Amino acid sequence: MNRVYIKTYGCQMNERDSEAVAAMLRNRGYTIVDSEHSADIILLNTCSVRDQAEQKAIGKAGYIAARKREKPDLVLGIMGCMAQNRGADLLDRLPDLDLLVGTQKFHQVPDHLDNIIATLQAQGPRPSTVIDLEEEAGSQNTIRDHLPADRRKVSAFVSIMQGCNMACTFCIVPKTRGEERCRPIEDIVAEVEELAAAGTREITLLGQIVTSYGRREIPFKNGKSPFVQLIEAIHEVPGIARIRFTSPHPRGFKQDLVEAFRDLPKLCPYVHLPVQSGSNRILRAMNRPYTREAYLRIVDDLRAAVPDMYFSTDIIVGFPGETEEDFEQTRDLFERVGYDMAFIFKYSIRTGTPAATLPDQLPAEEKERRNQILLDLLHRQSLRRNQSLVGTIQEVLVEGPDKKGLRFTGRTPGNRTVHFEGHERLIGELVNVRIERASASSLVGAVV
Ligand code: SAH
Ligand code: F3S
Repeated sequence: MNRVYIKTYGCQMNERDSEAVAAMLRNRGYTIVDSEHSADIILLNTCSVRDQAEQKAIGKAGYIAARKREKPDLVLGIMGCMAQNRGADLLDRLPDLDLLVGTQKFHQVPDHLDNIIATLQAQGPRPSTVIDLEEEAGSQNTIRDHLPADRRKVSAFVSIMQGCNMACTFCIVPKTRGEERCRPIEDIVAEVEELAAAGTREITLLGQIVTSYGRREIPFKNGKSPFVQLIEAIHEVPGIARIRFTSPHPRGFKQDLVEAFRDLPKLCPYVHLPVQSGSNRILRAMNRPYTREAYLRIVDDLRAAVPDMYFSTDIIVGFPGETEEDFEQTRDLFERVGYDMAFIFKYSIRTGTPAATLPDQLPAEEKERRNQILLDLLHRQSLRRNQSLVGTIQEVLVEGPDKKGLRFTGRTPGNRTVHFEGHERLIGELVNVRIERASASSLVGAVV
């Protein structure tokens, strides 16, 4: 009765939360398995950012609930953003749910499962659904456990904060993740030191709005924001070769952060800079506090600081009222920045957000058409950037065998995936690779 399968939907924050839950469960004597069919307990860690993500998780939960009729001991739990967003209403759709855990209660999962299993083993009446969706002070400090890696965990995610205080009119995240709460710098550094001691070389700092890290709790020091102070502290940790972060907000890119990219060699020249739209009119309707001009200035500043910077973004097409002209502004900005990577989303109505009730919602076909235009652009830009790397020598952090197990894989500082002939002993090493071939999604080369 102790084999747990965790399925994760959505972003890297969710991946990280799931890993922390898995690590806590392991420490409690549970076994983490990688197939739902060999599990006694199935936990879905869910996403609410778009309707599609919620529908997928609900579909999956329904299918597992049906299996419970043959296997009554099977335990089914829903965790994370959708649990928080929909709360006990989910039980109307899924009356067989055993556990419903919100985004501030992940650390309670082991206790809840212990109780549920004890009740099932006592063979009494089936316990009613355990619902735990409250806010909890300090919960941001509980996402710190890591699973021991089977092989060296070259790259690790570290959660530095939870929540978001912005009010983008399309976004459900402030509701699902709550107010901004940060972890102390010392705790984060201690976690990074432990990871480094176990062989981790690359750290990605995670949060819903990392550039707001500590802005209420930690004072500026020598003109540097708490977030830059944190990056500098991690930069000191021996063994860590690369630092990345996601997601920032454009308004967090002040001089101190731009200079950090220039001055800190471990901070990778790759920035995910969500723009959402290239139209000032739509940006205002989205309640994004910058203009396209201000955004483009940040891009210029970063390029001036680091000439071969790589840029990634999030974009929403088909926000209510987005005209052909507005979209043209987005397309134009997309080309101007020359994004190397992008996450392009079709606007999805999120009940309870201000944009949900705006007039002029766009038809699905029009969103799809705009989506496709940007995807095509992305493909071309990404291919062009990768082709420009053919013949160069790139420093690659070796992660391990690739999916097919034929070659090894790693990433460049600009986050491009490279395949090459390698060896186990190179895992975790920085090697120089001469790039021989390029596609839009990856590079092939040889270690020199
Ligand atoms: N800064 C946050 C953003 C969370 S949502 C983070 O990364 O944690 C991630 C992206 O999903 C947003 O940047 C936005 O582009 C997209 N998104 C959010 N709400 C959306 C909606 N209602 N419809 C479509 N895309 C949305
Ligand atoms: Fe969402 Fe805007 Fe925060 S996109 S996560 S409300 S910065």
